Amino acid sequence: MNYSIALVPGDGIGPDVVAQAVDVLDAVADKYGHVFNYVELEAGGCAIDATGEPLPAETLEAAKQCDAVLLGAVGGPKWETLPGHLRPERALLGLRAGLGVYANLRPAALLPQLREACPIKDEVLRASNPKGEASFDLLIVRELTGGLYFGERGRSPDGSSAFDTETYSRSEIERVLRVGYRSAAVRRKKLCVVDKANVLESSRLWREVAAEVAKDYPDIETTYMYVDNCAMQLVRAPGQFDVIVTSNLFGDILSDEASVLTGSIGMLASASLGDSPEEEPKAGSSGGAKASGKRVTMGLYEPIHGSAPDIAGQDIANPLATILSAAMLLRYSFGLETEARAIESAVTATLDAGYRTRDIASRNGSAGAVNAAAGSTGAVGTANAARE
Ligand code: NAD
Ligand code: IPM
Ligand code: MN
Repeated sequence: MNYSIALVPGDGIGPDVVAQAVDVLDAVADKYGHVFNYVELEAGGCAIDATGEPLPAETLEAAKQCDAVLLGAVGGPKWETLPGHLRPERALLGLRAGLGVYANLRPAALLPQLREACPIKDEVLRASNPKGEASFDLLIVRELTGGLYFGERGRSPDGSSAFDTETYSRSEIERVLRVGYRSAAVRRKKLCVVDKANVLESSRLWREVAAEVAKDYPDIETTYMYVDNCAMQLVRAPGQFDVIVTSNLFGDILSDEASVLTGSIGMLASASLGDSPEEEPKAGSSGGAKASGKRVTMGLYEPIHGSAPDIAGQDIANPLATILSAAMLLRYSFGLETEARAIESAVTATLDAGYRTRDIASRNGSAGAVNAAAGSTGAVGTANAARE
């Protein structure tokens, strides 16, 4: 089967980690007899340099015509002083809103190979783990196209004050909650709504809507937690969480925190999804599966980390978050579960073989200590393992 994938490498380490993910996708294509047609697109700082705009209209249009989008990262010091609406990060918001991908799935689980890279003590992990194991496995479902990121913002006429607003409608809350419940149904059947309902009116609406939606999922245990407590509980007892559903800003912050428990922000993948596709294949799509009538679900896939300007160009960025995002792409957009698992197995095989970028090298310097040959971005790329 032919599929079209838009590649948006972006800035800093973005192009390096996307290149590794493409090598892995190519290995999977060879092995399983698929054809992935890549459409490379500019967004972020590189697009500002080339066109003056962070998200050229052609980029969004071309992305919409593809079957799925894989993005590296955007941003960097070069563009930091530009006004808000011209910054590279605007490209991300425009892509997310333009593609209608309102539910951002950010899974955080501790791989046994990376136990040494997790800063939490064994006994602390065991205490909250349902099986008493020194591990955890949680999923943050972050609302992605509303809230503080998309509310009205501005300055007073004299510039001496500024405001950003958080607005959520019932329907925006309900649809992302339903994604959370459907995820919890195939996991451990626990869903925690994380908010700041002791202060924010928008959070009180989240709780009201959650109480209604929960009635449709009687098998799933619904709990509520304030975001400050959640930030604390994540490091005190991560095993208590199964699915966390939360707003755009809170999900952004909590997922960076959760990533450290997995060893590094360089491990955390994400999938951003919208509503399921209509039955009709899309007209004019660019030579991908949609054109041939196959059912695919548009999604935007990206590591949760940024362009990491401090390590860009050094060949030490961890490509695994992007490679694991490519696995999510195959699973959620193309329904290729076997192929997605093949990528995930290739990642664990690569770690088993001792390859580690610096960020996931063991803290005590023993197993998997980095040396130049085993620690470069390319060495940790899992294309070889994916071919086996
Ligand atoms: P960052 O995620 O880029 O970096 C934070 C820290 O994590 C840095 O020390 C970096 O070296 C490290 N890190 C990140 N990814 C890594 C990887 N794959 N391997 C090893 N180490 C890694 O966050 P920041 O420094 O706050 O932001 C830098 C720029 O990236 C900013 O312009 C920001 O707006 C942008 N940003 C973009 C995205 C995105 O495109 N999705 C996400 C976050 C930040
Ligand atoms: C992320 C990033 C973005 C966000 C920024 C760069 C706009 O931090 O994807 O987590 O806040 O959503
Ligand atoms: Mn973030």
